[in-house]
Parts: sequence; structure tokens; C-alpha cells
Amino acid sequence: MTSALLGVEFVPLARALEPKPDADPDSAHARMRALEAKYKRDAPHKDFDTQFNSIVFGDGDPCARLMFIGEAPGADEDRLGKPFVGRSGQLLNKMIAAMGFSRERVYIANVLKTRPPGNATPTAVEVEACKPYLIEQIRIVSPEVIVTLGLPAARCLLETNDSMGNLRNRFHNFEVAPGHVIPVMPTYHPAYLLRAYTPENRKKVWSDLQMVLDRLGMAPASA
Ligand code: URA
Repeated sequence: MTSALLGVEFVPLARALEPKPDADPDSAHARMRALEAKYKRDAPHKDFDTQFNSIVFGDGDPCARLMFIGEAPGADEDRLGKPFVGRSGQLLNKMIAAMGFSRERVYIANVLKTRPPGNATPTAVEVEACKPYLIEQIRIVSPEVIVTLGLPAARCLLETNDSMGNLRNRFHNFEVAPGHVIPVMPTYHPAYLLRAYTPENRKKVWSDLQMVLDRLGMAPASA
């Protein structure tokens, strides 16, 4: 297998990420649809300072082995109703492709499902209101590994105020249900990477993603 990282760019590497062997796609899709409907009925965002056009619930394979969690929809996501479809999304797609996967075979969600005005960082109250729905999404997907993108998602799951510098580059345990622990790899948000697109930062993200590949038993032969 050739190196997925060429001159510290995210270079696509084609291979399959199969769904979990015990997956029941019909049931997972039905549970995810029911959860989205419940979210819409409950409208936990109703008291938020938000002017949204779309509820951006999630995207991808609800039986995926790998799940990415971002912060909140931006303007493009709000317009199109899907997470990570703007500039950050294009970079995330590249990162996923460099891991050798297609976006359709992973599951992508955000902590908040509606766009905060001016892309403001979610408040603690907003995160707490939306967290139960995210946890239920994680229970349905039941991924082998979670990658959190940016601090708000890492802090939400890991209940910490630690910095990204301290959190990334190692796995943390997230107990999604009693006795069901999922390893979480925090890494930088693609929007941060776009603002600071340096070889050093790309190397850090790629190294985090390689640890994820390793955990999935899919580490590239060379890097
Ligand atoms: N940033 C996020 O955190 N999520 C999106 O869906 C888009 C941008």
C-alpha cells in the first residue's frame, strides 16, 4: 500500500471500510430516523439564540465502524441540511479519503443540530440540551472508534476543559452505556486546519488519524 500522506497533503487511498459484521442496517436506519423525529418534536434548540433553516442531524452509514463528531452546522450545512458540506467538509472528506474510506461508509454528526448565529461556539447550556441526542446517535451507530473534531466536541464527550494540545494524540474512553466503552481520538477541527494549514498541523492530524486506523486494524503499510 502506498503512503496516504504525500508531502503532508491528504492524498486519497482507495479501500473498503466494511460495516460492522453484526450490523442490521434496516434497524439502524429506522432507529436513526425515529431519533431525528424525536429531536424535531422535542426541539431542544427552541430556547437557543439560533436562526436556522435546516436541522442538520447527521449523515452517512448508521452502522459505521468510524464516527466523526463536529461542533455545529455552519452556513453551508444550514443551507443544504447536511453536516460538513462547506470548506471544512471538503477538507474532512479529504482526510477521510486519505484514510482510505469514502464519506458514505462513516457516520458524521455534530454536537448541535442547528446553526449558532455567526458560527458562535456552542454554550454549555446548548451542549447539555443537545448531548442526549448525540449520545443516542452514538448508541445507534455503536462505532469502534470516534474522532472528535475541535474542542467543543471533545469537551462535550470527555467532560473536560483540557486543551487540544493535551487531549489529542491519545485515545480516551467514552462510556456510551454501562460497560460499553468506545475509544475517542480528539483532533483539530478542519476549520482550524484551514486557518493554519501548516505541514506541522497536517502532520499532527494525520498522526491522530493513523492511530485511529491502527485501532481499526487498518494502518497503512507505510506513512
Ligand atoms: N463545522 C462543524 O463543526 N460542523 C459542520 O457540520 C460544519 C462545520
